[in-house]
Amino acid sequence: MLKDLFMGLSQNQFLNSAAKKYGLKLGAQSVVAGTNIEEAIQSIKELNAHGISCTVDNLGEFVFKNEEAIAAKEQILKVIEAIHDNQVDAHISLKPTQLGLDIDYNFCVDNVREIVDRASQYNMFINIDMEDFKHLQPTFDLLDELSLEYDNVGTVIQAYFHNALEYLEKYQNFRIRLVKGAYKEPEEIAYQDKKEIDANYIKLIEWHLLNGKFTSIATHDHRIISHVKEFVKKHNIPHDKFEFQMLYGFRKEFQLKLASEGFNFCTYVPFGNDWYGYFMRRLAERPQNLNLVAKQVFNK
Ligand code: FDA
Repeated sequence: MLKDLFMGLSQNQFLNSAAKKYGLKLGAQSVVAGTNIEEAIQSIKELNAHGISCTVDNLGEFVFKNEEAIAAKEQILKVIEAIHDNQVDAHISLKPTQLGLDIDYNFCVDNVREIVDRASQYNMFINIDMEDFKHLQPTFDLLDELSLEYDNVGTVIQAYFHNALEYLEKYQNFRIRLVKGAYKEPEEIAYQDKKEIDANYIKLIEWHLLNGKFTSIATHDHRIISHVKEFVKKHNIPHDKFEFQMLYGFRKEFQLKLASEGFNFCTYVPFGNDWYGYFMRRLAERPQNLNLVAKQVFNK
């Protein structure tokens, strides 16, 4: 019930645009690393100091105007320059819809190409985040097209899809982030039951660790992480073949612990004014995250 409520709120375009005007509210400031590039770079430096690498997301969705997509592209180019200028250990995560996928596919390809091209000059990786099912195939098409010219791109496979292993087999030679999946999808195409999603997630992780390129295992689930630790030990999979990823502000102690144990660790660092949809999806995933909101509202 709560999950559906927050998913609905995350897709409310009026609330999405209204929230932009008011800065970080409702506790979002503990899971969003500021509203501008300087604040994001400061957060990255702090994480880097603990041996944690970062992937930076300039928050934004529901982009239906060319000028908004171009502004997002310009901002991401500035982030790339800031990462380079500050010599911090970070790369980019981006969402195709923010760069115009809902406006025109070729327009989006051109925008993302410019970003990938600039990043390639600095040997920087660009992760193309995966959104809902409607955008899955166009996102794969985008990746197919860009990978003809560049090798610094990869994407995300969502374990809740029945066809996830098929997607992973096709993209096994890419740097892949494996996740459970954050959107509400129909039962015809996606598992709904947590146990089934978890089982498929483990299957994908094991498959890609044994067969694929570098694997980013993006989860806050300590049970999955313990399983992966045992699996890599048993199969002698070197630490440089994978990393764990978590979102900024979640399970901070656990993030530090994994990094201090010698595992590659990467924190997903979202920043910007367009925080609302991202924050609502986090509440949908884990209603206990409402504590963040409660603390913010009552600790005044
Ligand atoms: P899940 O929410 O299933 O929790 C499992 C268990 O872990 C919980 O029952 C609890 O015991 C524990 N736990 C979880 N969070 C906790 C917390 N904060 N504190 C204490 N215990 C906690 N999705 C997508 O569709 N496209 C994408 O591109 C991405 N990208 C992405 C990047 C990164 C770095 C991450 C971490 C996640 C994504 N996601 C994503 C989101 C992903 O699909 C998924 O929705 C969330 O990570 C939630 O699932 P988890 O695997 O984290 O655990």
